[in-house]
Amino acid sequence: AEITLQPDQSKAISDKLMGIFFEDISYAADGGLYGELIQNRDFEYDPIDKKYNDPNWNAQMAWSTDGDLDWEIRTDEPIHENNPHYASLNVTGKNAALRNLGWDGIPLQAGASYDLSFFARRPDGRGTLTARLVAPDGSVLAEQRVRSIGKSWTKLTTTFAPERGIDSAQLELRFDKPGRIDLDMISLFPQETFMGRKNGLRKDLAQTIADLNPKFVRFPGGCVAHGDGLANMYRWENTIGPLESRVPQRNLWNYHQTAGLGYFEYFQFCEDIDALPIPVVPAGVPCQNSIMGGHGQQCGVPMEDMDEYVQSVLNLIEYANGPADSEWGKKRAEAGHPEPFNLQYLGVGNEDLITDIFEERFRMIYEAIGARYPEITVIGTTGPFYMGTDYEEGWELARELDIPMVDEHYYVPPGWMVNNQDFYDKYDRNGPKVYLGEYAAHLPGRPMNVETALSEALYLTAVERNGDVVEMTSFAPLLAKEGKTNWNPDLIYFTNTEVKKTVDYYVQQLYGQNAGNEYIPSQVNLSDGNRDVRERVGVSVVRDEATGDVILRMANLLPVAVTASVDPAGLDLRGSATLHVLQGDPTDRDATPTTSEIELGSEVTYEMPAYSFSVIRVAAG
Ligand code: AHR
Repeated sequence: AEITLQPDQSKAISDKLMGIFFEDISYAADGGLYGELIQNRDFEYDPIDKKYNDPNWNAQMAWSTDGDLDWEIRTDEPIHENNPHYASLNVTGKNAALRNLGWDGIPLQAGASYDLSFFARRPDGRGTLTARLVAPDGSVLAEQRVRSIGKSWTKLTTTFAPERGIDSAQLELRFDKPGRIDLDMISLFPQETFMGRKNGLRKDLAQTIADLNPKFVRFPGGCVAHGDGLANMYRWENTIGPLESRVPQRNLWNYHQTAGLGYFEYFQFCEDIDALPIPVVPAGVPCQNSIMGGHGQQCGVPMEDMDEYVQSVLNLIEYANGPADSEWGKKRAEAGHPEPFNLQYLGVGNEDLITDIFEERFRMIYEAIGARYPEITVIGTTGPFYMGTDYEEGWELARELDIPMVDEHYYVPPGWMVNNQDFYDKYDRNGPKVYLGEYAAHLPGRPMNVETALSEALYLTAVERNGDVVEMTSFAPLLAKEGKTNWNPDLIYFTNTEVKKTVDYYVQQLYGQNAGNEYIPSQVNLSDGNRDVRERVGVSVVRDEATGDVILRMANLLPVAVTASVDPAGLDLRGSATLHVLQGDPTDRDATPTTSEIELGSEVTYEMPAYSFSVIRVAAG
């Protein structure tokens, strides 16, 4: 192949093309990224969390008892009205224990420390308890005596330093004095969270995300953002403040959300990884504008409540950006962050049906934001282009209202990505910008392998070419816990102790870590001019203004190697360069990229291996 660069036709492209989409799906938050090691710490698991009846799913889930006690869940005089359930134990002898199984076991690392905290009260008088971390065989790994349990709710804390590491411990609370004892918000966190944050994130998972070098983080969904009924819409203000005052709720992916990973933690994570926060709020309608089990009955926030709802969206902007003495900025400051969180973008709606119900509410929110916070870029929404007319209607509304950006979603076979590289070539350069907020290549059986990864790498060369109209992209979904997946494929799989990167992860990383903001067009001529062959080779060349480095990306989806001679057309590519190559058999699920240093002369010849994605980063001379 001959690749001729056209530096004289360079154009500016988005400097935030690669980001991430975080949704609490497949145990991505509780039991995943959120560092809490106790499952159902607040005794708020509810049978309603499950779409399909599960007899074991209730407020006692993940807990067991032993010895001289019986226990019940009570709701009278709770710690906080938003957290009404708590465990009330009636201890009848000297040998009584309450245990938590964690998320199918509590992983402990040797040499690490763990903070235990809980609320307790003994209505009949003072008392103590013994807290332990125990192995499945009953051996004690760490033990602390906790005193000062009084008549009213008090928060108690202690720290464990277990003598050895283990994958699957349990927390045990032992009681030796008969009488009633009430317990709630029983929490265990590793001290070593990502960036050492209190109430923080699991370090290895957060680091794996940070290593993608995302320019933004979209949260909290996905469908979780708008919920599957009015009562299930994600209300951001329910997820801030003291943990015991947050409002837990059913996760529409068939489990439970504690809201422990809430808006403050999301914003803080964005700041910690130097990514822009992109929250998505419901457009006043739930998923498909319908009530779960409502048989298609359409609904939205009642019009008489819309002013209040719109105000809640405005409050979010004040919470993120307002001065520390403003009503909502004060709450941010009280949480330990007086400085603003630099919110620039706000998604309104997620893949909604574009009905009159939607439109009426979207307009109200959109206009109110424009009037009060014109500096905020609102991101509108469309359905996937292959689902009904919502794609067209979403775009029509965006043009009519002059919405600056539209969030598009599509999950497509790898072949679609190969055949539709011109998708954005046809988009209006003067219309709303695109945020490709959810996408992935889906194969039958939904594996992630070299075929899906390379088709995404190839498609992204075309997206990059359209980086003047596509501002942002995020693969979806990001995280999934093995054995708990609601959706496949996902970019990163994990267990309690392991993080498993997919081949597709490396494509995202190669783009994220080698981003540019100037696109240098190139002419690619293959000796075989057949269209099927031509479409299987994709090239994009960008320059990163900050470093001056030039980055060449070459995706080869052909079963044979392709030798490319690059004509830099005046661009100086000579000198040292870093070469990353991801290659493998299309069905290979374990391919990882190699990295090497190379020297480029005045003539550049590079052989793209069969089924490969290569990135050459040329250091600025
Ligand atoms: O990414 C999984 C789901 O796909 C999202 O929740 C939703 O927005 C889309 O339909």
